[in-house]
Amino acid sequence: MRVLSGIQPSGKLHIGNYFGAIAQMLRLQENNELFAFIANYHALSGGAKLDELKQNTFEVAVDFLSLGIDPQKTVFWVQSHSKEVLELYWILSRYTPVGLLERAHSYKDKVAKGIAPSHALFSYPVLMAADILLYDAQKVPVGKDQIQHLEMTRDIAIKFNNEHGDIFTIPEAYIEESVATVPGIDGAKMSKSYDNTIEIFMEEKALQKRCNKIVTDSTPLGEPLDHTKCNVYAICSLFLDEEGKEELAKRYASGKEGYGHFKKYLKSLIWEHFAEAREKRAYYMQNPDIVYDILEDGAKKARAIAEAKMEIIRDAVGII
Ligand code: ADP
Ligand code: TRP
Repeated sequence: MRVLSGIQPSGKLHIGNYFGAIAQMLRLQENNELFAFIANYHALSGGAKLDELKQNTFEVAVDFLSLGIDPQKTVFWVQSHSKEVLELYWILSRYTPVGLLERAHSYKDKVAKGIAPSHALFSYPVLMAADILLYDAQKVPVGKDQIQHLEMTRDIAIKFNNEHGDIFTIPEAYIEESVATVPGIDGAKMSKSYDNTIEIFMEEKALQKRCNKIVTDSTPLGEPLDHTKCNVYAICSLFLDEEGKEELAKRYASGKEGYGHFKKYLKSLIWEHFAEAREKRAYYMQNPDIVYDILEDGAKKARAIAEAKMEIIRDAVGII
């Protein structure tokens, strides 16, 4: 099965990204042909700080490699290193009714949040369709907010195929229901835009400080705590198996420990879980050439597929 996913290099990765997206990719790369790329063109659509884009692109690559994306198993590249995607974006625009784009929730949400309503923001779903269709992806793991974009990709591909024959594979969204929405330190969905994240690669002290900021109720020390309503418990449980979760629930009920203890425990869970990745990260950060070589190798593989596919597409639409 060919699986493809992209992530925008719009800032430091947090544990919501890890459990919501990256952990799935790591599982999928074991038994599938995984295509994973850093969507840096998408970052031009608004909101991202462009003076940080180069560094963010590099760091997201480092983070992915450190967390376990394996370039021997997975085609891993930066979107802008395979330019065919921009050509396909234009060709697909012909098969994209304006009305389809006007219905996009994510466009409306972003404009409501104050992002400038540029053509890039408006046509973002067409570029995403090009990413997916260029590589004949069958499954696309995405968060719930991206389902509509996948439906648009399918609509565009079906319209194209109706006119030109079966050129594109019709992709399906792949949603793991078990992947919960990871809460942030204020209990809302963890997201960069809400400034409520816990970054994966924080310094140890900063990490403890961040965990200490998780909002809890004011049950005094010495009284049993309700783990079912606790954000600290919810985040801890992402790192624990069933037995670990039961044990922690018992500690909450015992009344012997307060939230401060559980915040320390959470910090130690995060710190240990990413210990190996942190070491790899330090290595890649000191050896950027190794990272760029891996990305170039990935781009070569991506380009070979993209170039062959574009010949078929150009021929179908009459571009010489
Ligand atoms: P952010 O909301 O911080 O800007 P992105 O929109 O860049 O994050 O998300 C990148 C990927 O991480 C997406 O696949 C998204 O579904 C996943 N993701 C982000 N935040 C969470 C969360 N709190 N819980 C689960 N998955 C998440
Ligand atoms: N739009 C996706 C997001 O914001 C990122 C993305 C770009 C993507 N192209 C893609 C995801 C292709 C899956 C497939 O999270």
